[in-house]
Amino acid sequence: MAFVVTPWEVSGEIDYKRLVKEFGTQELDAKLLKRLEKHTGELHHLIRRKVFFSHRDLDWFLKEYEKGNKGFLYTGRGPSGKTHLGHMIPWILTKWLAEKLKLKLYFQMTDDEKFLFKEGLSLEEATNYALENALDIIALGFTPEQLRIIIDTKMSGVMYPEAIKIAKRLTFSTTKAVFGFDNSTNVGSIFYTCMQAVPAFLPSIAAKKKLPCLIPLAIDQDPHFRVTRDIIQKVGYPKPAILHARFLPGLQSAEGKMSTTDGDPDTQVIWTTDDPKTVKKKINKYAFSGGKDTVEEHRKKGGNPDIDVAYQYLTFFEEDDKKLEQYYKDYKAGKLLSGELKTILIDKLNVCLSNHQKKREAARKNLKKYLATPEEFS
Ligand code: TRP
Repeated sequence: MAFVVTPWEVSGEIDYKRLVKEFGTQELDAKLLKRLEKHTGELHHLIRRKVFFSHRDLDWFLKEYEKGNKGFLYTGRGPSGKTHLGHMIPWILTKWLAEKLKLKLYFQMTDDEKFLFKEGLSLEEATNYALENALDIIALGFTPEQLRIIIDTKMSGVMYPEAIKIAKRLTFSTTKAVFGFDNSTNVGSIFYTCMQAVPAFLPSIAAKKKLPCLIPLAIDQDPHFRVTRDIIQKVGYPKPAILHARFLPGLQSAEGKMSTTDGDPDTQVIWTTDDPKTVKKKINKYAFSGGKDTVEEHRKKGGNPDIDVAYQYLTFFEEDDKKLEQYYKDYKAGKLLSGELKTILIDKLNVCLSNHQKKREAARKNLKKYLATPEEFS
């Protein structure tokens, strides 16, 4: 089956094992996870369930950590619209790592990127979404000391001199090969990867010391850092380590990625701001079911949790392994009906979301304190 995974397009039935080969990354193996667990005390369910399944140089990052060279975390968001649950997955794990490893997080908001790549999005709109999306990351429970949000267009005075150091060593022919650009691509887009590279070493500049960087991300962002990793040592900084997540699927299929790009987004995604009624309606109406057509048949033959979107979402959001296993068994055995499984998910999500929404609104008055300023990097 053909599939595509690039920063601009994710489609088809994704074979994550093949992606590891094609991208040249490493699978997260038991030995490395044990080593991580030594420092975190436990393993997050997103790691236990292999939502995070691959890495680059995590062993090196941990080795430095063990030597006392504690680095920092970096991730980001292209603010082209509201935040949905799929965006939150890497951020949830990043928050956990920040807490367990006591590391600071630098979070990049690429309003420049979304302005350059998205037809019809003004720069002002992208910057406004950056501020709105920032509430979702803050709501995960960071203090302003632990989380610095870098909005590209607000920090360009500090970032530009660093970005051009990358740009000088990145050719058009490489960007063509890696990203599929051609002669009709606007020059801002061609340059953009250089901006995404900067937060991987900006904290080192401020600290006047080569700090290890770990970047949790959804695997479609890996190409930017493949390019960055090839260049960054020539600029004088260590290659960032990467931790790759697979995608939260959209409502209508257990494969692929939650995304707003095909059709009406309200039939594909759950926004972090959706109210309980909307969540209920979306799941009941749109979530693809692995259940049988009739109750009798379902009772007799059982459902298929592997293609069932409600079950798949529970693997991301139900922390309790025992409960999850029970749902799996009961659904397969036909004891649990599709509608019942959906209700379990709806209740779970609505508890998470109402908690998140409270924190999100509370973050509004503190937003400014989290926004990085040029001074802190000088
Ligand atoms: N390009 C990313 C996006 O479109 C945003 C981003 C910037 C990012 N820096 C990052 C994502 C670092 C992951 C890690 O969403």
